[in-house]
Amino acid sequence: APQEPVYRIGFSQCTTSDAWRRAMLAGMQKELGFYPNVQFQMLDAHNDSDLQRRQVQELLRQHVDLLIISPNQSGPLTDLAEAAYSQGTPVIVLDRRTTSRLYTAYVGGNNLEVGRTAGHYAAQLLGQKGNVIEVLGTPGSSPAAERHRGFAQALAAYPGLRLVAQMQGDWRPASVRQQLPAVLRAHPEANLLFVHNDQMAQAAQQVARQLGLGSRLRIIGVDGLAGPGNGLQLVADGALQATLLYPTGGEQAIRTALRILRHLPYEKENLLGTMVIDSTNVGAMRSQTEQLAMQQQDIQQQQRRLLEQQQRYASQATTVYLLLAS
Ligand code: FRU
Repeated sequence: APQEPVYRIGFSQCTTSDAWRRAMLAGMQKELGFYPNVQFQMLDAHNDSDLQRRQVQELLRQHVDLLIISPNQSGPLTDLAEAAYSQGTPVIVLDRRTTSRLYTAYVGGNNLEVGRTAGHYAAQLLGQKGNVIEVLGTPGSSPAAERHRGFAQALAAYPGLRLVAQMQGDWRPASVRQQLPAVLRAHPEANLLFVHNDQMAQAAQQVARQLGLGSRLRIIGVDGLAGPGNGLQLVADGALQATLLYPTGGEQAIRTALRILRHLPYEKENLLGTMVIDSTNVGAMRSQTEQLAMQQQDIQQQQRRLLEQQQRYASQATTVYLLLAS
C-alpha cells in the first residue's frame, strides 16, 4: 500500500481538568491508535479564553494540517476559527461552538435537545407542576446557552411549572458550593434543580443535603459519564435523580478529521444523541459501558501484537535480504 503522508492535527481544548474532558481525550487517543501517521498536539487553555486565543494562534503559526477546537466561550474564539477556515486550514468545532458557520465540521452533542429532554423529564417527574431552579454553565459558552434555551422551551409547554431562579455557574463545582446556598435559602419553594453538568450537580446535591433539603429537592445533571464518582454512579447511588447523556465526541472528531484530511466524504454537522439516564436504566448503561471498556482493552492488545509482529517481520525481512545480498 502507498505510504500515507504525515498529518499534523492541532487541538485547542478549553480545559483538561475534569473527567469529561479526560474521557474525550481518551476517545481521541483510542481512535488515533489506528492512524500511526498522525501527529497530534493538544494545548490546554485552562478555562481561559484569552489564553485559548494565543494557543490557537500558536497552532496556526505551526501550520497544522487541521485544527480541532472546543472554544471556552463562543465569542472570543470565533474570528480565529473563521480566519483559519477561510485561509484553508480545515477546522473541526468540537462540543462547544463558535458563533459562526464558517468551519469545516461540527462534532458534538445536541445541547438544545439535552435542555428540552431535561425539561420534559422534569415535568413528568413533578406531575407537571412545581418550582424549578436552573444552574447554568459558563456564560458565553454555547452548551450553557443551548441547554438553557431547550429547557425553557420545554417548560413553556407546562403552565404549572415555573423557573423561579437561575444561578450562573462556570461548569465547576466550586462556584456552586459558593453561590447555591443563598439561592436555595431564597427559594424554599423549589422542588427541582436542573444543573448543566454532573460535577456541578454533585456539588448542588451536597449543598442541598447540608441545608436539610436532601430528600425534597430532585436534581437533574448532564454528562452521564461512566467511572467512579461520575454521573452514572451518582444516579445509581441516588445522589442525582437523573442525568442527560452527553457524549464527548472524541472518537468521532478524530474519525471526521481523517476523512477530511484524506479527502473522503464527511458530514458537516455531526450531532450526537442524548437520553435520560435514571434509576430505571442506569444499571443497563453501566454494564454496557463496562463491556465496551473491556472490548476496547482487547482491541488495544491486538493492536500492540500486530505492531510487534510487523516489527518482527520487518527485521526478519532485513535478515533475509542481507543473506541474499551476501
Ligand atoms: C466539561 C464540561 C462538561 C459539559 C461540557 C460542556 O468541561 O463542562 O461537563 O457537558 O464541558 O461544554
